[in-house]
Amino acid sequence: MDLPFAENYKIKMVEPIYRSTREEREQWIHQAHYNLFNLKSDQVFIDLLTDSGTGAMSDRQWGALMTGDESYAGSSSYFHLKEKVKTIFGFDYFLPVHQGRAAENVLFSVLVKEGQLVPGNSHFDTTKGHIEFRKAKAIDCTIDEAFDTNGPHPFKGNISIDKLTHVLEEHPREQIPMIIVTLTCNSSGGQPVSMENLRQIRELADQYQVPVIFDSARFAENAWFIQNREAGYQNKSIREIVSEMYQYADGMTMSSKKDGIVNIGGILAIRHKDWHQQATVYNIMYEGFITYGGMAGRDMNALAIGLEEVTNGDYLENRIRQVHYLGNQLIKMGIPVQKPLGGHAVFVDAKRFLQQVPKEEYIAQTLAVELYLEAGVRGVEVGTLLADRDPVTKENRYPKLEFLRLAIPRRTYTNNHMDVVAAGLKNILDRRDQITRGFRIAEEAPIMRHFTVKLERS
Ligand code: F0G
Repeated sequence: MDLPFAENYKIKMVEPIYRSTREEREQWIHQAHYNLFNLKSDQVFIDLLTDSGTGAMSDRQWGALMTGDESYAGSSSYFHLKEKVKTIFGFDYFLPVHQGRAAENVLFSVLVKEGQLVPGNSHFDTTKGHIEFRKAKAIDCTIDEAFDTNGPHPFKGNISIDKLTHVLEEHPREQIPMIIVTLTCNSSGGQPVSMENLRQIRELADQYQVPVIFDSARFAENAWFIQNREAGYQNKSIREIVSEMYQYADGMTMSSKKDGIVNIGGILAIRHKDWHQQATVYNIMYEGFITYGGMAGRDMNALAIGLEEVTNGDYLENRIRQVHYLGNQLIKMGIPVQKPLGGHAVFVDAKRFLQQVPKEEYIAQTLAVELYLEAGVRGVEVGTLLADRDPVTKENRYPKLEFLRLAIPRRTYTNNHMDVVAAGLKNILDRRDQITRGFRIAEEAPIMRHFTVKLERS
C-alpha cells in the first residue's frame, strides 16, 4: 500500500484554543452586532478570518529573532533581507515597510496622480483604497471566467488581454502610471495568474511603455500553481519559476504577512533607481529610516528565512494540500465553492448556498454568522458589505459574487480542524431551506464599512 502524504514538520509549541458552546456564541455574536470582526479572538474556536500574519513561524525563524540587529541605521538584518530579495526576485532596490498597504502607500505616492487609471486583476481593497484616495481609478480587467465559480479555467487570476489592450488604447500613456498584477488574485478566490499571461502583459506594457507592478502577497502559491497546472513548468523548481515571473515586473509590493510567513512586515522592491530615490523620501516620512522602514531588525531576519522556506522544499506542498483537503471535502458534500480551488482559502459561493436570502440582506454575511454559530468558526464576508456603497449614488454595490472566505493560516491548524469546518457547513447545508432572512445595517462607516458595521437581524 502507498504511504499517505503527511507534512514534513512536527509541532514544538502549542497554543490552547477554547471550544465554546452554541449558547455562548449566540450571546457573543449578538454583543458583536453580528460583525465577526468585533469578536474577541478567544470567542473563536477556529479562526479563518485571514491568512495574514496568522501563520506559525519555524524554529529557524524563531531562532533568527534572537540574532536580529536592532541598529537604527545599517542593520545587518536589513542586509540579509536585501540580499534575499535580490536572490529570489532579482530586484536591486529594496525598502522595508511595515506591511503590504504601506508598500502601496510609498510606491503610489511616487507613481499615482489624480485622474489616472490603474488597470489590474481585481485589485485588493487596500490597493484600490490607495488608488482611489489619490483620486485615481482602479480598473478591473480580470478575465470573465473568474466570475463563473463552476468553470474549470486553471488560471482565474489572469488579466484579460483584450480588456487591458482596450484600456491602453483608449487612454494616453501619461494617464496610466502602471498595471498591477496581484499574485495570486485574492479577490477572485486566491486564483493564480499563468506565466503565459504575465508574459503577454509584459509585451503589451512594453508596447505602450507602461510599467508593471506585482502585488506579491502570495507569490509563492502562484508559482506552485504554475508548476502544477501550466505546460512546461513541471520540472522547474519554485525558485526558477519565481525568477522567471519577476523578469516581467518593474517592481513589487508585498505584504510579507502571507508568503513571508511572518506576523508583520512588508517589502517594496524596484528595478529603477529614480523610483527608488523618490520612494526613499516617502519611506522615511511614513515608515522609518531606509534600513528598517517600520520593521524591527528581528522581524527582518525572520522574514529573510520565511522567504527561503516558502520557496524551498515541501512547504508549498504541505500548504496547498491542506487548503485543498478542506475544499475537496466541501465539494464532495455538494457545497458550492470557487473552482478550481485556489491557494490560501476556500471561497464558498454564498449565493448558490443560501438561495432564499435576498441580496439586500447580505447573503455571505448571513452564511458567515451561521457558520460561527454552528461550529465556532470565523470566516469573512467578501460580498456586498465589503463592496461598500457607490460614492455618488450612495446605493449598495452588489458584486457579481458573494463569497464566504475561509482563509487558512499557514502551519497553524490540523486537518482535524478542517473536518470541523466542513461538518459545520454540511449541517448548515442540510437546513438551508429554513434560512430565509439575513441582516439589515444599523450603523455603518462611509468607507471600509465591513470592519465596523453593526447589523441587526432582518
Ligand atoms: N494585497 C493583497 C493581495 C492582500 O491580500 C493584502 C492583504 C494586501 C495587499 C495588504 O497587505 O494587510 O499587509 O497591509 N490581505 C489580507 C487578507 C488583509 O485578509 O486577505 P497588508
